[in-house]
Amino acid sequence: VKPESVSLCPVSIATNPERELLCIFGTGDLGRSLGQRLLQSGYRLVYGSRRPHSCGPLPPGAQVLSHEAAAQSASLIFLCVHREHYEFLESLAPQLKDKVLVDVSNNLKKNLYPEANAEYLQRLIPRAMVVKAFNTLSAWALQNGPSDANRQVYLCGNSTTAKQAVADIATKLGFTVLDRGSLSAARELEDFPLQLFPEWRLPIRLAFGLTAFFFFYLLIRDVVYAYVQEGKDNSFRIMVSLANKVFPIVSLIMLALCYLPGVIAAFLQLYRGTKYKRFPDWLDRWMLCRKQMGLLALAFASLHVLYTLIIPIRYYVRYRLAANTISQIMENKTSKFDTTMAWRTDSYYSVGILGFGLYLLLGISSLPSVSNALSWREFTFIQSKLGYLTLFICTFHTYLYGWDKFLHKYKWYMPPSYMLCLVVPSMVLLLKLLLLLPCVDKSLTHIRQGWERTDPE
Ligand code: HEM
Repeated sequence: VKPESVSLCPVSIATNPERELLCIFGTGDLGRSLGQRLLQSGYRLVYGSRRPHSCGPLPPGAQVLSHEAAAQSASLIFLCVHREHYEFLESLAPQLKDKVLVDVSNNLKKNLYPEANAEYLQRLIPRAMVVKAFNTLSAWALQNGPSDANRQVYLCGNSTTAKQAVADIATKLGFTVLDRGSLSAARELEDFPLQLFPEWRLPIRLAFGLTAFFFFYLLIRDVVYAYVQEGKDNSFRIMVSLANKVFPIVSLIMLALCYLPGVIAAFLQLYRGTKYKRFPDWLDRWMLCRKQMGLLALAFASLHVLYTLIIPIRYYVRYRLAANTISQIMENKTSKFDTTMAWRTDSYYSVGILGFGLYLLLGISSLPSVSNALSWREFTFIQSKLGYLTLFICTFHTYLYGWDKFLHKYKWYMPPSYMLCLVVPSMVLLLKLLLLLPCVDKSLTHIRQGWERTDPE
């Protein structure tokens, strides 16, 4: 062999021209789907069954044997049976010695058992090499190969050779393999299929809670108040006016809540005089869902922009405009052009548009395909510096909108909603401003570079 020659065959095929024999325990849906795919990918296959002669239709080309005989014939066995039935494997311990056992099982609920299924299996057959794998895929993906959300095979196990053997098979089936470490990660892998957007849960709950609160607040303030005090039916406002207040308010508060944990963390580090102490769990969890919170905030801001676009074509607005014009004609007078009003409205529109533009930039840069192309410095620059600028501009937009109406528009002692929504953003900006003071900034930079304050005993 010339030293510079390159072999284009995968090593396993080059060194082992004989088609490898694999074994599957379990002839249910999962076992059949996996078997079909393995056969298509060029493996030989033997099923292990309690009743080898009456186990229903199996993929053509597969052999069916008793568990003992099947285990004896192959060095790698996929276990496609439920955890409740694992005990029968104990009697097969001699045949399973030194074999790779792939646990593909899942549970119906989290924390159903004290230990992960794969760890339990390893305890039952200590001499086998257990690998947890394929459990995050659907039976459909196992039968048809990688598709949309089913491209990755997570695996974990204590034996490197066993993991390599399973990884080779997964790669040959067309999947991408992600090694999650030792068997102690099995519980995490078993919890994967039970999770539904875990990092979105808190932001969604928050958005829902804030939306409900402000909706009822505005309902009382804008609709019920007018009905009770003035006998006016303003209920039509629910559809556009109320929506166009609730959405930007929730958006602004959520944007501010993306930056609040960072500010709290900075003050905590200043207070503790070190960066080496862990943050409290709630702060960690909060920081981890900032991206999702920001994306939801962006969605709410986009709704605000869409609602704002339709303001001029609303029946109510057109009616008011026509009525106003007609009354001016009848009275033969024209209202004076109010330059201050022109400045105010133009300013808050313009600042709103700028804020929304920056908001979009933040959202786009958080998409994996974009953020992967950025260096860490570029990413933090956009998310932090531009993020604070966006928060500042959107807050300024709301202040401009409120203008001089902040202190005299109370109804039943309820302040206008835009006033309430300014509390958190203003607080975050103020705290950030404190952190930017040269003396504070210097101490924080020191701490973040690893310096620790030693308190006198
Ligand atoms: C209010 C326009 C972007 C936050 C308003 C109003 C308008 C407007 C016309 C008054 C709505 C009404 O009379 O009911 C715009 C335009 C934007 C924009 C044209 C960009 C294209 C934003 C963004 C935010 C925001 C990005 C930040 C989240 C607010 C808030 C209010 C408001 C909190 C007060 C809602 C209330 O209580 O009445 N904006 N806006 N806006 N906007 Fe914007």
